[in-house]
Amino acid sequence: MQRESTLSAAGLAAWTWVAAIAIAQVPEPNYDEQKVPAYVLPDPLTGADGRAVNDAAQWCSVRRAEILELFREHMYGRSPGRPAGMEYIVFDRDDQALDGHAIRKQVTVRCTPRIQGASLEMDILIYLPSEASGPVPLFVGLNFRGNHAVHPDPAIRLSQRWMHEDAEAGVVDHRATEASRGTAASRWPMETILARGYGLATIYYGDIDPDFDDGFQNGVHPLYYEPGQTRPRDDQWGSIAAWAWGLSRAMDYFETDAQIDARRVAVLGHSRLGKTALWAGAEDTRFALVISNNSGCGGAALSRRCFGETVERINTVFPHWFCRNFHQYNRREDALPVDQHMLVALIAPRPVYIASAQEDLWADPRGEFLSALHADPVYRLLGTSGLGVADMPPVDAPVATGTIGYHLRRGEHDVTLYDWQQYLSFADRHLRVP
Ligand code: GCU
Repeated sequence: MQRESTLSAAGLAAWTWVAAIAIAQVPEPNYDEQKVPAYVLPDPLTGADGRAVNDAAQWCSVRRAEILELFREHMYGRSPGRPAGMEYIVFDRDDQALDGHAIRKQVTVRCTPRIQGASLEMDILIYLPSEASGPVPLFVGLNFRGNHAVHPDPAIRLSQRWMHEDAEAGVVDHRATEASRGTAASRWPMETILARGYGLATIYYGDIDPDFDDGFQNGVHPLYYEPGQTRPRDDQWGSIAAWAWGLSRAMDYFETDAQIDARRVAVLGHSRLGKTALWAGAEDTRFALVISNNSGCGGAALSRRCFGETVERINTVFPHWFCRNFHQYNRREDALPVDQHMLVALIAPRPVYIASAQEDLWADPRGEFLSALHADPVYRLLGTSGLGVADMPPVDAPVATGTIGYHLRRGEHDVTLYDWQQYLSFADRHLRVP
């Protein structure tokens, strides 16, 4: 059975109090470019043995694996891989959805890591363009408020899971209500995506691991504990790695669905789920394209810049997102054996798009751009066009003719139609069948 605990009001109050004290001890965020400390980035193209990596074969056979291991060990934590027991239950299908424009499917993926053990169930909501003649390319991303929040379609199963309180979005006592249907629709322009010939699949991230620090007693983590184990070891997965693992389980399903072209799946995410999309793309090379929307600290932004959110702050407020080892780097960014340009480099030679928002200083737009820039040598070593510019572009002027795309959109931390229009055009360039 799926296990899921809720945080009681008393528990939440205690947590808030403890967190407030911890946060009070974290220095104020820096928003002044002049106060960014001097730093030296680790070189993705210098191997652990100190030797230069100067051809694609060396990158693919040695260096990429070294960097992936560093991120697993020091930051996101190690994930268990594909479970032995997996079932796909298609519990809904409508070929005339959205006024005949779409095929809708809802699929429960059930993962049972151990024989006769507990299982995890996550629901994938999928819309495909109804006029598609063959397997379609697809965007997949996790959502924050339940599948039913991405579109007002009343046939979408209303999530019963724990959610962060959000009265405005119809979440009451940590549960979704009918009022929450479609409340996140502005972030998922379904009709536009379908009209461009793409499918869209989404999963509520709380199906995989509820997003609060409960010592890893709920969600997927306990399903993998060895006898006597009560929490992940210091190098084992935190919540971000668990959410990314869930995206890979969705990919396992896509590979079995003849209407989806599993070789043309773009993974995307916003904010903490943008961090997740990047890690999913690094861990699982089946994702053909990766999109980070305003992912910030622990995502696309360079940690060493200490601009906006810092490693210490993120580990204090969200102690469950990364593995325990990452906490050693609070106020010690320079000691990290990696920085986030190396995360982007792990996606090479596959196309990657990094999007920032001008007012989203917390996520450090310049630090997000610099990751793209410093991943460029790896992309070029692998024979792609890379980023193609040396300077950060002005607002609303996407740089997206190469294999690395980037834009700085005007406005705040969000996913907008403008962002999607850039992603669709970028996908047209990279995922369209010639
Ligand atoms: C917080 C957090 C960020 C995160 C964001 C989000 O602001 O500090 O790291 O990206 O939440 O996920 O919305």
